[in-house]
Amino acid sequence: MQNIFSKSSRINEIFKDERVLYPEFLPENLPHREKEIESLAFCFKPIVSGKKPFNAIVVGTPGTGKTVSARFMLSQLQEFSGRAKSLYVNCFEFNTRNSVLFLISNFVGAAIPRRGLATDEIYSKMLDYLKKIDFVPIIVLDEADQLIAREEGSKLLYDLLRIIEFEKIHFGIILISNDFFLSSKLDSRVKSSLAEESIVFEKYSPEQLKNILKERASFAFFSNALEKDVINVAAARAGKLGGDARIGIESLLKAGRIAEKENAKKVSLTHLKKAFSSMDSSLLKKAFPFLSKQEKSILELISSFDGVFSGELFEKYSKVKNHLELRQFRATISKLENMNLISAPLVEFKPKGKSKFISLKVPKEALQKFLKEKS
Ligand SMILES: Nc1ncnc2c1ncn2[C@@H]1O[C@H](COP(=O)(O)OP(=O)(O)O)[C@@H](O)[C@H]1O
Ligand SMILES: [Mg+2]
Repeated sequence: MQNIFSKSSRINEIFKDERVLYPEFLPENLPHREKEIESLAFCFKPIVSGKKPFNAIVVGTPGTGKTVSARFMLSQLQEFSGRAKSLYVNCFEFNTRNSVLFLISNFVGAAIPRRGLATDEIYSKMLDYLKKIDFVPIIVLDEADQLIAREEGSKLLYDLLRIIEFEKIHFGIILISNDFFLSSKLDSRVKSSLAEESIVFEKYSPEQLKNILKERASFAFFSNALEKDVINVAAARAGKLGGDARIGIESLLKAGRIAEKENAKKVSLTHLKKAFSSMDSSLLKKAFPFLSKQEKSILELISSFDGVFSGELFEKYSKVKNHLELRQFRATISKLENMNLISAPLVEFKPKGKSKFISLKVPKEALQKFLKEKS
């Protein structure tokens, strides 16, 4: 029998380097984020000359380049100066005060055990080491809303504030969140001390997405591996789904892999469409086990609109279904947005100001099929 691997020994004509399309890849160039990166750099530049940095709060809807821009700025800073060192914390994973303090302590050299120490002990060990180190730590709290959602988690921000205000230790913080209201949820003392510079990441336009995808594709694919319009269609879809670059990049990766599997010479629109539908169903499959009945029924109601303002949705839901606290409703919207099932950007809502405009990020038919099967 022929060896099963010999089939794939054919020279690959699609990907030059598919890793360029992986979520953790840090590109050398981030089109359309020059201004935002500059604002971030401005906050931490003082470290280079031994001065105290400003802290930053970064907000924007998913896929607008918040995480990658912060990582980019920090990697440039650390390349330029040995005085700064950053620690990245994903608060989906680490959402308790203890767990974050544990990470920071270890980062500054206090080798403390994962369990068994009280919060105060961890804090004071951390402080001892913070006083000794010869660099300025910059802590990135990504998905910070997950931390602040819990009372106990928000105490962590006080811990950090104490380091800066009372101990006068140079220490930088970047809070990143999808929640535009994050800063209004912070206690005023925390806000004035920890979130000195607020940077808003607007969603990308279809034109900007096209440039971003072109740039990434030029490193990931061989020239001529993409049929005409593949980038345009991927960008248009990412644009429609909330200006989310992640969706565009992931669809190119998936489409390329499908083309490769089919032994095609080029990635075609057919491959791309297959990638779209596999992304939709894998997203739903992943999300559904984590949704409560109530969350599913809110999702179902959203699918009956072609986009709806959050106030109207809340009213409709309260009318048809049981009573629901506004707070809980907002938490659900933010959860569905985090799971990439809906987009909910803040838009002008006359005459009252701004409101969230909610629409589905997965096709209605795919969602309804899931709702029926799993109910
Ligand atoms: N301007 C850009 N240029 C190139 N790639 C980008 C750009 N903005 C975002 N990306 C890519 O899109 C994906 C999502 O970006 P990310 O920073 O994770 O978004 P967010 O943190 O806002 O949800 C990542 O793969 C990132 O590398
Ligand atoms: Mg992010």
